[in-house]
Amino acid sequence: MHDSIQLQYSADGLATAHNSEFLADRRFQDAYRFGMQVGALRRIELHIEWRAWIAIWAAEQALLVPGDFVECGVHTGILSGTVMHWTNFRAIAGRTFWLLDTFNGLPEDQLSESERKIGLQGYNTGYRAGDALADINAKFRGFPNVRIVPGAVPETLAKVEAERVAYLSIDMNMALPEIAAAEHFWPKLSPGGIILLDDYNWVPHINQKRAFDAFAAARGLRVLGLPTGQGIIVKPP
Ligand SMILES: C[S@@+](CC[C@H](N)C(=O)[O-])C[C@H]1O[C@@H](n2cnc3c(N)ncnc32)[C@H](O)[C@@H]1O
Repeated sequence: MHDSIQLQYSADGLATAHNSEFLADRRFQDAYRFGMQVGALRRIELHIEWRAWIAIWAAEQALLVPGDFVECGVHTGILSGTVMHWTNFRAIAGRTFWLLDTFNGLPEDQLSESERKIGLQGYNTGYRAGDALADINAKFRGFPNVRIVPGAVPETLAKVEAERVAYLSIDMNMALPEIAAAEHFWPKLSPGGIILLDDYNWVPHINQKRAFDAFAAARGLRVLGLPTGQGIIVKPP
């Protein structure tokens, strides 16, 4: 069909010859740069542009329906920061962006046996304890409608005072707190609202895929697995 394939993007487990022109879009570049920046650290070693672009799409869809935005698993705020910059979230009236993380790495007692086998217990946030929370506070200081909720999911879920949710980004790298978050927010998710799963289609994270396949099937749905490694669930009307 095509004699020579010219890759437009090759990073983060994804190589594609398909249109990736957003990479040259100044608005995207500015949003992504904000997402990448935390404290003195600019995470230039990471290239997750396609994942960030998908998150932007999901956020824009979510803005069409009522509800707050939530991310469980924030770390340095790459996805949440990119989304907030792109949408100018600070200027959006009546919506809060809730950011949940231990800001101190994953709670090892929540790991299943198979997750231990892939070595997740060594998962390191790349921070000294304490810095991550200070840095994320500083990063989002200019956003009056951001609420940072430190601590372990599921215990912290009840602190999210959202009546409705439009955008739920889940990125905690293991099934137990992720499913707990999805179960907790599903009744609050507006029809048309989106759950964005960061690890769903990553081969080592098969445990999360199986868990979310069951979560979706119980609601008569199927997760859209993406070549970025992400997954998307849209709540039907
Ligand atoms: C891959 S990072 C998230 C990356 C982030 N979404 C971004 O865009 O930069 C995973 C995060 O999940 C957090 N985490 C893992 N298990 C958690 C739990 N049970 N409760 C709260 N945070 C958790 C870790 O502390 C870590 O910061």
